Formats: sequence, structure tokens, C-alpha cells
Amino acid sequence: MVLNGPNLNLLGLREPQIYGSVTLEQIDRDLVEEGNRLQVQVSCLQSNHEGVLVDAIHQAREQSQGILINAGAYTHTSVAIRDALAGVKLPTVEVHLSNIYQREAFRHHSYIAPIAIGQISGFGVESYRLGLQALVHHLRNQK
Ligand code: DQA
Repeated sequence: MVLNGPNLNLLGLREPQIYGSVTLEQIDRDLVEEGNRLQVQVSCLQSNHEGVLVDAIHQAREQSQGILINAGAYTHTSVAIRDALAGVKLPTVEVHLSNIYQREAFRHHSYIAPIAIGQISGFGVESYRLGLQALVHHLRNQK
């Protein structure tokens, strides 16, 4: 399951000098395509609401084997999303379009990183594709 947090629905319009010009729709399409290549089913959800993301993580427990998440600003603020991810215990990869460590200090801390398998940050839309590959690689090596 691919989860995107607040303001990521504005990709393409939003601060293109930081986030590029590709829309979230395009990113989702590319991930479904990459999933087909890797022979995994990818489902994507974006929400601007913390509780909706928490509910989606709970649902993933029944429906998904792993989570790829760009929690947007909630990365830096949400104990609730971190607790949900820790609670369902699904392998999680955290991704960011921008390199959060090159930016403002408040973006340097991630609540998600300590409970994720790993984090990919700074490769633009490629972060998502790399993240999906890393997640699938992890799941296949686990078995
Ligand atoms: C982001 C980085 C966050 O700091 C920011 O709040 C976002 C996008 C990224 O993908 O680079 O919304 O997660």
C-alpha cells in the first residue's frame, strides 16, 4: 500500500522548485506500473487528514504486506501515524521527494524513521520507485 499525506495532492503545482512538476496521479500510475513489473499489486491513497491515514494503516493490516509512505508534514509531527505503523507491524519504507536533511531544521526529525525499514529522501519522484523496489526486495528476502 502506498500512502501519501497532506499537500501531496498538490504535486505539480506546489513549490515545483522543490518538489518538481510531476503530479501525484502520475506518480501513482508509475508505481502501479512498477508493481506490475515486480509482480506485486500496488494500491495508492492520499489524504490531508491524519485520522484517515491512521485508518488506512489499520486497514492495511488485513489487505497489504507492506507500506510505502510519504507522510508529508506529518513525518515531522505525527506520533499517531508512527504508532499506527508500529501497531500493525507491516514492513514500512519512508520516502520523500526532497532531501529533508538539506532543508529547514524542523524537517530533520522524522517520527517514522525509527520504526521504518529504511528511508529514501531526495531523489524526487524516483524516491517512490526506489522505495517500492526496496520494500519488495525486503519482503522477498524475508521469506
Ligand atoms: C516531503 C517533505 C516534508 O518535509 C514536507 O512537509 C512535504 C513533502 C517530501 O516529499 O519531500 O510535504 O515529505
